[in-house]
Amino acid sequence: MALVLAHLSDLHVSRYGEHVTSLRTSLRSKQGKGDEDWEPVREIDGWLIQKRNKWRWRLRDTDDALELRLLDDEGYVQARRKGRRADLSALCSDLEQVTTERHLTHHTPLARNLPPPEKVEALLEEDPTNTNLLFLRAAYAVTAAAPDWTAISGDITDDGIGYDLVLAAFARFVDRGRLLAVPGNHDVYDSPLLVVPSHQRKDSKKKRALWGPFARELGLPESGPWLRELGEGAVLAAIDSCTPAWTPLSASGEVSRETLEALGRMVEQCDLPVRIGMLHHHVVNPPFLHVGRAPWQLGMRLRNAREVYDFFVANRFAAVLNGHRHLGYRYHPPWAPLFLSAPSATLGDRTGIRPFYWSLTLDHGEIQSVRERRLGPEDR
Ligand SMILES: [Fe+2]
Ligand SMILES: [Fe+2]
Repeated sequence: MALVLAHLSDLHVSRYGEHVTSLRTSLRSKQGKGDEDWEPVREIDGWLIQKRNKWRWRLRDTDDALELRLLDDEGYVQARRKGRRADLSALCSDLEQVTTERHLTHHTPLARNLPPPEKVEALLEEDPTNTNLLFLRAAYAVTAAAPDWTAISGDITDDGIGYDLVLAAFARFVDRGRLLAVPGNHDVYDSPLLVVPSHQRKDSKKKRALWGPFARELGLPESGPWLRELGEGAVLAAIDSCTPAWTPLSASGEVSRETLEALGRMVEQCDLPVRIGMLHHHVVNPPFLHVGRAPWQLGMRLRNAREVYDFFVANRFAAVLNGHRHLGYRYHPPWAPLFLSAPSATLGDRTGIRPFYWSLTLDHGEIQSVRERRLGPEDR
């Protein structure tokens, strides 16, 4: 009987569903410094709206000036608003709205009490770019399609936060050991400087420590290559391509020779006819982005792509799945695997195509079809 494998990528789940974690909260979380300048105005579910009551520098007429800030339950500034004193109640309402949105889309409450699809759609009407909500939409779409396996090729989280939401939303697959995943640079590389505020920054060691329990929940090894027999003569061979470069801020990857040799021995012993590889970084470049123009790739590449390509060819892989570029494309060189790159399941495709995933049908020892499947309402 035919099997279906769903391949999606780059979920970028985060604390509140903001992309590149905390861009909205970064650079303004210096709670502690000058706290005496602020007085409480209102408390909402443990979060606090404060008003500046003392101006340190009299650079402007402050008699009528008003500045508010919103502190979360950990004491970090989540938002600021400036205006005139007459605007107090309007600005407070605005910050209350921010609080409500953040509470509704925090990964842990969402994971504990998954909102039904209709509720997710209603919340997306208000907050259409929230990646936690877009992730739930994607997870519901995949679950409704009921593939036999779901494989995610990395960047599960935006900054190592939110695995609980992924496990909860894909519980139907997790419970049967049918959710497969490899890490992406966002999951395991150092949190980027200047983007993630210092109190939330994690180094790669800490992020690997967060990845470990997630992998174990899926019944997968924390590191190293691994194989999973899918059925119908197919095996999925996973590679961790997240080896950071020395260059700061680089998102590039590499697969060590030892990893390739170890995987080579594993697939040799397994000897199933359909070999499908999965790694985060792309082995072949997108064939085009805009016709005639090379796609922007600074700091994104797989540094030993040629070696990895040769490995897949020499070991007779039928297909190789990747994410990372947020570009959905397929490229099938002659006498080589079919390379399938999935766009971001939440942020979509850089060309403007809405989020989708690849659906592979495997039957009688071959890949019978590869189709795009929308991750959202059909009319979008
Ligand atoms: Fe990504
Ligand atoms: Fe990535």
